[in-house]
Amino acid sequence: MIEPSSLAIILAAGKGTRMRSALPKVLHKLAGAPMLAYVLKAVGEAGIGQSCLVVAPCMEAVGAAAHAIDPTLRVFVQADQLGTADAVKAAREALDGFAGPVLVLYGDTPLLRADTLQGVIGALGEGADLVVIGFQASDPTGYGRLLLDQSGELVGIREERDASHEERNITLCNSGIMAFGSAKVLLDLLVRIGNDNAKGEFYLTDAVALAHAAGFQARMVRAEGPEVLGVNSRAELAEAEAALQQRLRAKVMEGGATLTAPETVFLSHDTRIGKDVVIEPNVVFGPGVAIDDGATIRAFCHIEGASIGAGAVVGPFARLRPGAQLAPNAHIGNFVEIKQAEIGDGAKVNHLTYIGDASVGAGANVGAGTITCNYDGFAKHRTEIGAGAFIGSNTSLVAPVKIGDGAYIGSGSVIAKDVPADALALTRAPQEERLGWAARVRERRTRDQK
Ligand code: UD1
Ligand code: MG
Repeated sequence: MIEPSSLAIILAAGKGTRMRSALPKVLHKLAGAPMLAYVLKAVGEAGIGQSCLVVAPCMEAVGAAAHAIDPTLRVFVQADQLGTADAVKAAREALDGFAGPVLVLYGDTPLLRADTLQGVIGALGEGADLVVIGFQASDPTGYGRLLLDQSGELVGIREERDASHEERNITLCNSGIMAFGSAKVLLDLLVRIGNDNAKGEFYLTDAVALAHAAGFQARMVRAEGPEVLGVNSRAELAEAEAALQQRLRAKVMEGGATLTAPETVFLSHDTRIGKDVVIEPNVVFGPGVAIDDGATIRAFCHIEGASIGAGAVVGPFARLRPGAQLAPNAHIGNFVEIKQAEIGDGAKVNHLTYIGDASVGAGANVGAGTITCNYDGFAKHRTEIGAGAFIGSNTSLVAPVKIGDGAYIGSGSVIAKDVPADALALTRAPQEERLGWAARVRERRTRDQK
């Protein structure tokens, strides 16, 4: 059963010193979306009714990013970064008078799953006053260690800096996610947390030992693998990215797509891929890509903000930029760049071409080396290529310009005026021939060299 009236407090005010970045830690991206977005998504999917976010002063960008995802979210400012317990206190206004369970999540633990959060809410429903998500770490460095008594009951959490040599050998760690049966239990514990520790901070993790001493029931819920990875450094960001990519690839394959070499395909949080799509090795998807059934993405493509129709073929070595819209069965070949352009049903743009701010009609053929000259140094202009038109190789289309349906452009042309339907247009200089010229020159130069 999902408890509808629970509250999530997401902590994101930490300095993130170990990232060595001007950007607040939780805005660093994973698969194209800020870390914080994943936490908010899990909270939403777990059916947690209300959320609030704790940020530091001058972190307006974090509040704004969170509001864009969840407009009902309340943002609190923690004046000084005195530790995780102090951060929770910053959201006190949300706790006062709140009757339901409270979950505290860290904005730097982005891979957490909604069903794990539901497990935590379930444990509270069974009578626990405090629940901690714990995990078995292969390398526990940096994490708080969970202290269990003889009977296996959770009695405390020891931060690494404060741990004895023996305690450091413990591999059962704190994920950072803690939940409290009610706001009252949390407030009760919060006021008792001190800062007598190696960092001189108010640790939320001290709530566990205090709860145990006060006779509250503290429980651990286990989570596995990368779900609980806390991102504190660039190396951990890369680790989280790798784990997330694996998750995204598995989902795409479950959905019926073939990834020839999955480990070389990089997806975005929102990449939508249909059935029987084949993705060859070394393809990168930026945000905003949708691919319909049966399309093929050949090796070494970079695709963002693009939609690809059923049965279309893209690449190898193609770049689709935002606003590229490929109708079914369109073909985009090697060293072709498409931006803000619609490519019609069955149209072919197969070699060494730039199509920007344009439309290409159904069945049109765009020859090798065609360039839409869309920018005059001040503004962008559109090129329209009609259905069934044929653009000869090495053509420059100087926008704004329209090529009518079925028109034919001679190779090497610079087209700056509209071309009517079914007409031939070419701007090539007439060909000149001088018979015997080459032979004469060759003979003279050879003679001069002797
Ligand atoms: C914390 C836990 C540790 C756990 C680990 C899991 C504490 C004391 N330690 O350590 O037991 O194993 O997470 O990843 O909780 N924050 C604030 N205000 C502050 C300090 C921190 O909002 O004053 C926020 C941070 O933005 C971050 C989260 O709290 O989202 C955790 O802080 P961080 O400094 O990353 O703690 P860890 O050292 O990772
Ligand atoms: Mg952390």
